[in-house]
Amino acid sequence: MLRQGRLVAFPTETVYGLGADAFQPKAVEAIFEAKGRPADNPLIVHLAGRAQVPQVVASLSETAERLLDRFSPGPLTLILPKHPDLPEVVTAGRDTVGVRIPGHDLAQAFLRACETPVAAPSANRSGRPSPTSPEAVLEDLEGRIACLLDGGRTEKGVESTVLDCTTDPPVVLRPGAVSVEALKSVVGAVHMEEQGEGDRPKSPGTRHRHYAPAAQVHLVHEPEEAEPTSAAGYIGLRAPENSSVFRHCRVVSDVETYAQDLFHFFRTCDHAGCDRIYAQAVPNDGLGRALNDRIRRAAAR
Ligand code: TXA
Ligand code: MG
Repeated sequence: MLRQGRLVAFPTETVYGLGADAFQPKAVEAIFEAKGRPADNPLIVHLAGRAQVPQVVASLSETAERLLDRFSPGPLTLILPKHPDLPEVVTAGRDTVGVRIPGHDLAQAFLRACETPVAAPSANRSGRPSPTSPEAVLEDLEGRIACLLDGGRTEKGVESTVLDCTTDPPVVLRPGAVSVEALKSVVGAVHMEEQGEGDRPKSPGTRHRHYAPAAQVHLVHEPEEAEPTSAAGYIGLRAPENSSVFRHCRVVSDVETYAQDLFHFFRTCDHAGCDRIYAQAVPNDGLGRALNDRIRRAAAR
């Protein structure tokens, strides 16, 4: 189906992706249509392995090689100079391309069978929480896709780390499932993208309110800040008082489980008609950095 130019949703270790043949511009346009995605937001190209890199990338720096050696397959997206033959619609007219080799058996089998690079954003309607289950994909995209590969719940629950390798040192455009600490251990210095008011962000997808359920998300530092009501959800590492008053209350044992469950919890609260969701911030290191980032963006109005 993918080779026929149709859209195929597939699981990865992070979240589900909505795939199209990266070399069929019409198919790639259909992704933007199905998601309601702004045309200026570039897509990540997914590859089965290193052998496909030269099809989509013009050149690989030594740093990029080292990062691929260490983190691919895995939840890391590298921004690299784009191959001139890769259709412009994939990269939203930019001269760079995001490249990722997912580490997930079904994703790998799918990408190998496609025998072509696969452009894929997360398989949600634009602005909504990324899908971490097949049900979440269907909730957003049923009737808009040709096929969904069912891989059950995804393991990481937050998206890949997006690292711009066109500068020295590389810049983290989106914190994700590979920690900044792990990146530093391989390449030394890594910068974090600072987003000043009015700047043109390098990664357009991080600009908008994002990852948001219908309920209003509130970031809290302590569980006591959450107001218990029967129309509220709470998720965090520590239990709030009166936890039974909340419509849904999820106390997670660690940051990994928190990340796995966050987007799923958002959708669960929407189904239950909650009007607000309290999400507790976590220490801002390791995977916690990505988790705090997602909560903050979901909470932005
Ligand atoms: O884990 C993931 O990365 C998932 C799975 C499906 O691989 N994909 C994903 O795609 O989250 P998406 O489109 O939802 O987010 C990709 C992010 C966006 O913020 C986008 O702007 C940025 O990567 N991006 C993609 N290509 C880029 C480029 N050439 N330059 C700068 N940012 C880029
Ligand atoms: Mg997305």
